[in-house]
Amino acid sequence: MRVMDTIPEIGSEPLDRMTKGCEASNILRTAIDFDLFDLLEESKTAEQVSSETGTVASFTEKFLNALCTIDLLSKRDGKYANTKLASTFLVKKSPFYQGNMIRLFKNSSLNWSRLGSAMKGDLPDETGERPERVFDSGFILAMAEGSMRGSLHQTVKEVSALPEFKRARTLLDLGGGHGLYAIAFAETNPELDATVFDLPPVTEVTQEFIGRYGMDERVSVIGGDFAMDEIGQGYDIVFASDVFYRKPDALSGIFEKIHGALNDGGSIMLKHWVLNDDRTAPPTSVLFDLMLSLRGGNWHHIYTEVEYIELLKGARFSDIRVLDVSSQVSPSVVIVGNKEA
Ligand SMILES: C[S@@+](CC[C@H](N)C(=O)[O-])C[C@H]1O[C@@H](n2cnc3c(N)ncnc32)[C@H](O)[C@@H]1O
Repeated sequence: MRVMDTIPEIGSEPLDRMTKGCEASNILRTAIDFDLFDLLEESKTAEQVSSETGTVASFTEKFLNALCTIDLLSKRDGKYANTKLASTFLVKKSPFYQGNMIRLFKNSSLNWSRLGSAMKGDLPDETGERPERVFDSGFILAMAEGSMRGSLHQTVKEVSALPEFKRARTLLDLGGGHGLYAIAFAETNPELDATVFDLPPVTEVTQEFIGRYGMDERVSVIGGDFAMDEIGQGYDIVFASDVFYRKPDALSGIFEKIHGALNDGGSIMLKHWVLNDDRTAPPTSVLFDLMLSLRGGNWHHIYTEVEYIELLKGARFSDIRVLDVSSQVSPSVVIVGNKEA
């Protein structure tokens, strides 16, 4: 065998990208932790940045150069400044800021580091995942940031075209978190009053968002646990976004509760990430499904469209339709079902 005859038929670049993926994410997270993009809305030299961040000058210059290679900064005449990508998504005062969302991935890297032991059955105890720990204010802000990347706008646009939405007067945003969906639905339909239901510590964050958008008159909150508490009555629509990723036995009771809380002829609208029928696409959902399982407790589950439809039929909803609101970062559908009039 000759070395010169031993050459692969295909390039190894995809493996290189997979192996080195953590480099860019570490650089990005560190820049966010130093609030670097807030400083670089105005161009600055490495020395200026290092004196403002209190970091070592020689390191700082290499770090800023690295940020240029991942297209978050540009360098001109020895000065660094944000690219449009950084200005749009990484500066705190931007309405599209993603800092909390990016920080959240620190937790998911922790989960990913358990993959090998999880494969051998060694998983954390599910009692370690108390809701108040998972759904803290950083998480809720991250969800708000995620929704502002376009999935909220697309969802509200699709839902607002439905006759059920046009005639609705009351809407419950179940597990609404930040409440931006409820706020946007109320903005879109001036005759609609919306309520956000979420866990009591979360509803404090919801109130801040409602105040920020001047919607106190039209959007209210109820604090509670939808698995145990009543969720109210007399709704024309119960909407839920990214709330139901649990195994079917944990969900059927909740869907029954939603059915009972709706007016006759009212609608359930579920907006969730879904998997294709053989559970191999889209990649964002497949990886999310695996990552959720790494958190332990055998109750996480990403559904296919067909599975959600079956769950809704089981809870006596009819006239079921699927609206495509998917994008690469949010592979979502809205599934709509009606309660008999
Ligand atoms: C992934 S977040 C989604 C937030 C928001 N709907 C969105 O799409 O951005 C899930 C939300 O469900 C809420 N939640 C989870 N379990 C709950 C429960 N048992 N009772 C009330 N709210 C719950 C969480 O507090 C959190 O706000």
